[in-house]
Amino acid sequence: KETKDQLVIDAGQKHFGATMCKSCGMIYTASNPEDELQHVQHHHRFLEGIKYTGWKKERVVAEFWDGKIVLVLSHDPSYAIRKVEDVQELVDYELGFQQVVPRCPNRTKTFLFISDEKKVVGCLIAEPIKQAFRVLSEPTGPESPSSKECHRAWQCSDIPEPAICGISRIWVFRLKRRKRIARRLVDTLRNCFMFGCFLSTNEIAFSDPTPDGKLFATKYCNT
Ligand code: ACO
Ligand code: ZN
Repeated sequence: KETKDQLVIDAGQKHFGATMCKSCGMIYTASNPEDELQHVQHHHRFLEGIKYTGWKKERVVAEFWDGKIVLVLSHDPSYAIRKVEDVQELVDYELGFQQVVPRCPNRTKTFLFISDEKKVVGCLIAEPIKQAFRVLSEPTGPESPSSKECHRAWQCSDIPEPAICGISRIWVFRLKRRKRIARRLVDTLRNCFMFGCFLSTNEIAFSDPTPDGKLFATKYCNT
C-alpha cells in the first residue's frame, strides 16, 4: 500500500547512518563519540531498569505463551514499588514527561508485562477518574501521513463524559512493539480494574496521548 511505503522511506531518512542497539533499542550514530557515550550510559541504566528478578509475592493477573502480566498496588512490598518507580522513570524519560506526581497515588494500579526473558517489556499505569474529554477526530483521519508528525495538540471536546479508569501511561519496549503487548495490557486492565466487571472501552480514557498512543488507542477502541 502506498502509505506503508511512505512510512518506510520516512524512517530510513530520519535515521540515516544510525544503528539501533539490539538489546536496549536506542537509535544512535555509532561514528559519533558523543552519541556513543550517551548510548553506553543509557544502555546500562535501561537494562538494569527493566530487569525483573522475580518476587516472592507477585500478583500474576494474566499468563501468555511469551510472558505474563503482574499487577502492582500501592501497598505492595517496597521491592515491587521500587521496580515500578524505576520503570516509570524510564518511560517518562522516553515520553519526555517531567516528574508528574500522580493525583491519587494510593489508588494507582500498575500492570507490568514480564517477558519470558525476565524483562519488563510493557507497563500500564491506571488510576480511577470520574470524567474524560473525547478527542475530536481530525479532518485528515488517522491514516494520513500528517498524523505521524510529532504534534500533540489534539482537539478535545469540552463536554465531559463519564469515565471510570484513566490510563496515565502505556509503554512497550521498542524492540517488542507490534506484538499485541499493549493490547493485552489494556484487556487485562479492563478485566481487573474493578472487581467483577469488564470495563467497556467507553469507560477507559487515555490521558494526553502521544502520536503512537493515539494510533494504538484508535485501533484498540474500534476493535
Ligand atoms: N502505528 C500504527 N498503528 C499502531 C501503532 C503505531 N505505532 N501502535 C499500535 N498500533 C495499532 C495497530 O493496529 C496494532 O495492531 P497490528 O500490529 O495488528 O496492526 C494495534 O494498535 C495493537 O498494537 P499493539 O501491538 O498492542 O501495541 P504495542 O504493543 O506495539 O504498543 C504503544 C503500542 C504502547 C503505543 C507503543 O508503541 C509505545 O510504547 N510507544 C511509545 C510510548 C508511547 O507513546 N506511549 C503512549 C503514550 S500515551 C499514554 O501513555 C496515555
Ligand atoms: Zn544499547
